[in-house]
Amino acid sequence: MSSPSNDRRIGFIGLGVMGGSLSLNLADNGYQVYAFDLDSKKTEHLINQDALERGDKPQRIFPCTDFKELLEQLPQPRTIILSIPAGAPVDAVCEQLMAAGLNRQDIVVDTGNSLWTDTKEREDRYKEKFNFFSTAVSGGEVGARFGPSLMPSGPKEAWHQLEPIFHAIAAKVDPKTGKPIERFEPGNPVKEGEACATYIGDGGAGHYVKMVHNGIEYADMQLICEAYHLMRSALDMTPAQIADVFRLWDQGPLNSYLIGISAEVLDQVEPENNQPLVDIIVDKAGQKGTGLWTAVSSLQVGAPAPSIAAAVFARGLSSLKDERIEASKVLQGPANKVELEQIEFIGQLEQALYSAKVCAYAQGFHLMDMAAKENGWNLDFAEIAKIWRAGCIIRAGFLQSITEAYQENPDLKNLLVAPYFAEQVNRFQNSWRQIVAKGALVGIPCGAISSALSYYDSYRLEVLPANLLQGQRDFFGAHTFERTDVVGNDKYHVLWSGDRSIVKI
Ligand code: 6PG
Repeated sequence: MSSPSNDRRIGFIGLGVMGGSLSLNLADNGYQVYAFDLDSKKTEHLINQDALERGDKPQRIFPCTDFKELLEQLPQPRTIILSIPAGAPVDAVCEQLMAAGLNRQDIVVDTGNSLWTDTKEREDRYKEKFNFFSTAVSGGEVGARFGPSLMPSGPKEAWHQLEPIFHAIAAKVDPKTGKPIERFEPGNPVKEGEACATYIGDGGAGHYVKMVHNGIEYADMQLICEAYHLMRSALDMTPAQIADVFRLWDQGPLNSYLIGISAEVLDQVEPENNQPLVDIIVDKAGQKGTGLWTAVSSLQVGAPAPSIAAAVFARGLSSLKDERIEASKVLQGPANKVELEQIEFIGQLEQALYSAKVCAYAQGFHLMDMAAKENGWNLDFAEIAKIWRAGCIIRAGFLQSITEAYQENPDLKNLLVAPYFAEQVNRFQNSWRQIVAKGALVGIPCGAISSALSYYDSYRLEVLPANLLQGQRDFFGAHTFERTDVVGNDKYHVLWSGDRSIVKI
């Protein structure tokens, strides 16, 4: 058996869409994959796909019938990657691998969308048995196949063995431009450029970062949907016309994967009746929970992320389709049609969407910052922004600007106050206000765009009405308040039921 440093055998468990794609990505990058799935048809499909792609080159993916066989094929310390549903299956497979002979130095990598607290707990639980590692993967099927963004975390001592593997299969960025280097060709992986994989930390940090990535993804998608809704309903534009606008925006500051695919979806025609596809898709949003987890965490950590929460609420409201149909018969929108000037409106909408998007990212990064402090993680935000520049769902031109903002000031409190973003948002805010106001006037909900504006206004105002709120709390519950005219954190209370004098507590 050759030594682990030049031995490129890896175990892979779970050969569904993501697992199969990651396996082929590993194979393209020179790894021999020993593969197992409970469903032997999936294994067979992957072996056939490997045969198809490699032509007359040697086999790269090898089927295993059980975990024992899989472990026997691998050099020690072994690397075994899991692509299985999050939750109980991860523990079930870990237990079975231990029973099959896993060693203390072996590494098991969970690539699912696991809840970060589960990952943290697993790192602790298995630390005497084997190295439990994780890497969150973003980029969907195509990303997994040709270069995803990876957010690895776990015991640092396992990282040196995994780093070359993850760097090989990750998406790559041109270091000069910060733009993705993309090539979607089996057998010809991108080897040049900076890899979108960086060690995030231990204690579930990687899955936390991926969770926030998904929270931002929810907000970004909802913002785009609100822009679509405004153009569709307030400007009476067709899906194809809106696709043209999105394509134009994709050339400017809004350049992003999500804007690009939105144009493609809007351009798609349903072949049977020649209708825009979007018109035959039922307007009920699904969700698997990562956006919800982000919103919950933001409430728990005390890092306000209202636009991410608004996006989760919007999905929830959309799913109440039957109730909405009934309500539409009872509740009215604006009585008069509001005339909007199309060119002016679209120009304002671009600036509003961009500003709101900056807020969503600002909320996500602020949340990670506060969670890092609470959990003792040393998160490097410039590095995190860097690995989101390619491969992942929220990849966007402006992640290069976020990278630079954190490189210039690693202690940046909020992206909004980074000089580059502050200048832009200050300049765009009037358009943003116009869009929120016009949205309200025409009766089109834009909860994410408007919550972002409220976030911006709340964050920038020196004085908020929380002074009255503290007064209310003190009135009914003697919850006390601090004084603006006294230095320090001394607490005061008004004897509301007595002579209303102010006492220091
Ligand atoms: C990614 C995606 C991916 C997946 C989400 C979708 O980064 O590749 O975020 O993880 O598409 O699970 O989540 P919802 O089903 O909740 O929209």
